[in-house]
Amino acid sequence: MLAMRELSVGFAGGLALRRATLSVARGERLGVAGESGSGKTMLGLACLGMLPEVAVVTGSVRFDGGELVGAAERDLRRLRGQRIAMVFQEPLSALNPLRRVGELIAEPLRLHRGLSRAAALDRACALLSEVGLPDPASRLRQYPHEMSGGQRQRVTIALALACDPDLLIADEPTTALDVQVAAHILALLRALSESRRMALILISHDLRAIAAVTDRLAVLYGGDIIEEGPTADVLAAPRHPYTQGLIAARPTLSARRDRNAPLPTIPGTVPALAHLPPGCRFAGRCPVELPVCRSTRPAGNPACHRGGP
Ligand SMILES: Nc1ncnc2c1ncn2[C@@H]1O[C@H](COP(=O)(O)OP(=O)(O)OP(=O)(O)O)[C@@H](O)[C@H]1O
Ligand code: SF4
Ligand SMILES: [Mg+2]
Repeated sequence: MLAMRELSVGFAGGLALRRATLSVARGERLGVAGESGSGKTMLGLACLGMLPEVAVVTGSVRFDGGELVGAAERDLRRLRGQRIAMVFQEPLSALNPLRRVGELIAEPLRLHRGLSRAAALDRACALLSEVGLPDPASRLRQYPHEMSGGQRQRVTIALALACDPDLLIADEPTTALDVQVAAHILALLRALSESRRMALILISHDLRAIAAVTDRLAVLYGGDIIEEGPTADVLAAPRHPYTQGLIAARPTLSARRDRNAPLPTIPGTVPALAHLPPGCRFAGRCPVELPVCRSTRPAGNPACHRGGP
């Protein structure tokens, strides 16, 4: 349904995404993991044709056969909200504070689906119920600031679902929420994807969230997709040195770790775009680096000159 081929996103400082190739099928749940600045949000925005204007984009993103790179804004706007929707990290900024929740959700239904005001409000009420908000009828009259963070995130999900999208992109949807509320929201996203056969891209730096929700996982480092595969397989037996380090640093995901040993961490941080090596972008931090690594970009899955383990 969504196919990204050799997609690069460049800024003045360098490439934030480098020749990314990925696909998502109907009903599939793909996780995108990686440290801050690895290009996760750029990848998500590319699927909506919403990259910043200053970005130089090459390659292709096809949705249901249609090309999104270079598409007219009018065509992209029709896709967004109707076929592809996005849920962002911070629910407050995604909701107009001056509009009541009912009106917010009813608006796209009236605009895109031609529903009457009453029918749209009825549908909004059903959506609020579907995302697990108690007493949805009275919620319709509330303003976003009258709700808790978790309730607001449920409203943004209801808003994203309003026009029955085929693909939902959730970019760190639970970062602003406490652990228990986050777990409910993640379970909700998974259940909605299952019941609606809706494809889901879950972008997160939290591997536990990705493990709980997704079937497939793509790991990003410095704008490169460095490893991809079934989520359970990648987490159980990571093949790229970066993924191995990432998982070793997460105590609950690493089966082999001695509970009393200090937590391992990956030394260093992702360098700025302008300072990333032209070859493997993990060179300089990689514990098993080879002489070829800095100059020549590794291909394959995992994208590593050493291949698999
Ligand atoms: N408008 C912009 N202008 C220049 N560089 C940008 C712009 N937006 C993003 N970048 C750069 O692109 C790279 C990838 O950014 P992106 O937002 O995709 O990272 P991320 O993986 O989503 O990080 P986080 O986990 O912090 O959200 C970063 O190095 C960032 O500095
Ligand atoms: S290509 Fe080289 S530097 Fe990169 S992860 Fe593999 S071994 Fe390490
Ligand atoms: Mg981001």
